[in-house]
Amino acid sequence: MCGIVGYIGEGNAKKYLLQGLEKLEYRGYDSAGISVLQDDKIVTVKKKGPLKNLKNAIKNVDLTSDVGIGHTRWATHGIPSDKNSHPHLSEDKKISVVHNGIIENYAVLKEDLIKKGYKFVSETDTEVIAHLISHLYSGSLLDAVISATKQLKGSYSIGVISQDEPDKIIAVRKDSPLIVGLKDDGNFIASDIPAILSETKDIYILNDNEFALLKKDKVTLYDERKNEIERKIYKAEFDDVTIQKDGYDHFMIKEIFEQPKAIKDTLLSCIMGEKVEMDSIKYDNLKDINKIFIVGCGSAYHAGLVGKIVIEKWAKIPVNVDIASEFIYRNPLIDKNTLLILISQSGETADTISALKLGKKTGCKTLAITNAMGSTISREADFVFYTRAGIEISVASTKAYITQLIALYAFALLLAQKKMEKDEFENIKAEILLLDKKVSKILLDDKNIKTIAKKIANEKDIFYIGRGVSYASAMEGALKLKEISYIHSEAYAGGELKHGPIALIENGTVVIAINTDKNLKEKMDNNIKEVASRGAYVIGIVPESFKNSNYNDTIKIPDTKPELYPVLSSVPLQLLSYYVATEKGYDVDKPRNLAKSVTVE
Ligand code: M6R
Repeated sequence: MCGIVGYIGEGNAKKYLLQGLEKLEYRGYDSAGISVLQDDKIVTVKKKGPLKNLKNAIKNVDLTSDVGIGHTRWATHGIPSDKNSHPHLSEDKKISVVHNGIIENYAVLKEDLIKKGYKFVSETDTEVIAHLISHLYSGSLLDAVISATKQLKGSYSIGVISQDEPDKIIAVRKDSPLIVGLKDDGNFIASDIPAILSETKDIYILNDNEFALLKKDKVTLYDERKNEIERKIYKAEFDDVTIQKDGYDHFMIKEIFEQPKAIKDTLLSCIMGEKVEMDSIKYDNLKDINKIFIVGCGSAYHAGLVGKIVIEKWAKIPVNVDIASEFIYRNPLIDKNTLLILISQSGETADTISALKLGKKTGCKTLAITNAMGSTISREADFVFYTRAGIEISVASTKAYITQLIALYAFALLLAQKKMEKDEFENIKAEILLLDKKVSKILLDDKNIKTIAKKIANEKDIFYIGRGVSYASAMEGALKLKEISYIHSEAYAGGELKHGPIALIENGTVVIAINTDKNLKEKMDNNIKEVASRGAYVIGIVPESFKNSNYNDTIKIPDTKPELYPVLSSVPLQLLSYYVATEKGYDVDKPRNLAKSVTVE
């Protein structure tokens, strides 16, 4: 959560900071601020609200400087306000700090600093860091930051500048992402690569407890004992142009339309040849696995629910699926023959990282399915498979989710390839290889879906029902709708309705029925009749071959194998949510209270 950026060089710091913050706004948009060193003094401007408020505030201010730090915030400690915005300053205003993460022991540190005479002006945990560094400062900013972090508990990536050492930025990371960008005439820090991609593709990825000392012509990395560290330069693989809206109104709709390509790119990396091969994952390393846990949050968790059904069906290995924040506190029964699969678009979700750490402690094998090269989860898991969705900017996950499904199908096949009949294996593989084209076809139905969205945009409650893999799709559909349109939406397994939820159905209640599996069709048809006879307005998402449907509105999707429908049914569900949210005039890419990357527990 929150985005950090910093620049030191011969350029215009203000320009680079604002440019970087714009690209990081998806990480938090409650407030934004910058500090620059100007005429040997720190000048700080920070504003509650979206980045444009900060931009307006400094539009006509001369902030000529070649060093500065900036921040875009997702509030944890203290309401969004000018005062609580970052950067935070030491009392003498000589040190300025930006921070992402949570300082868990901030209350104790704050009390101690207050006793020592420091005065606090904000409600944030971050202000503690500024006072602490200032208190420990005795001529070396790097030493003061190293000493301060010894007292900090929690997660943090931090950028610091000081009036007394205007030729440097100090940065550190622990359990919160931070990268360093390298350029001939200046260097950068940032929470994520897009922030600096227009300037450089040469990057150092920091590991936990590593410090960076940036000067305009040199970057030195240190461990916590101040030993210098060598680091290979990582070359970013994508271009700045891939993170533009390309004429679309929002990133979300652009990303929905990029799904055929994302599916194809992911397939090309694992399933195109005769065998299924997935980056570093080798069947022989996994042949002793007798139990699997899949762990993730939000959409990644929903992908896991589909993964469970296909792995159990094709590879005959029992699978548990857990929400990461539940998994870590429930003492799951893991041993060395267990495989723990962590699914995370960003690879930086704090709850999922904690689940990975728990798994590693117990000695089980760990596999990351992530979209972010070099992310924490990708670096710490035993095996990694990268989804090839490309950068996903919109808070609502679309192309990343769909490629997580592809990855799970491929993985289920990889586990199954020595157990399944060759014909069946080939048949499933062939169907999977058609999915990108089928998604393209659904996207052509965009207008019909938009018309339906307009009809339901003013509803207060919308229900989603499904069975089998389509129950997982119903959960994903309901999440997508609630997070961007703020309409209360819930998913129910079709068979569960009669055990309580059906009491909510009254005349006109909208129910979206995902009725895709021919083996479950009769049962679903009955569930649909149950709600329709109580007055529900039913929107059906059904395969083209299903006849005799009794829906108020119908969205047809191409036929495929029962287990593969989540890829196809997720597309109309995404479009429906998108058009409902735009009909209501909401900022789809930056929904209220949310941020793209949830790096706090
Ligand atoms: O980066 P991750 O995949 O770990 O993120 C997990 C969830 O935070 C994410 O899927 C979230 O639920 C999305 N906003 C859903 O659209």
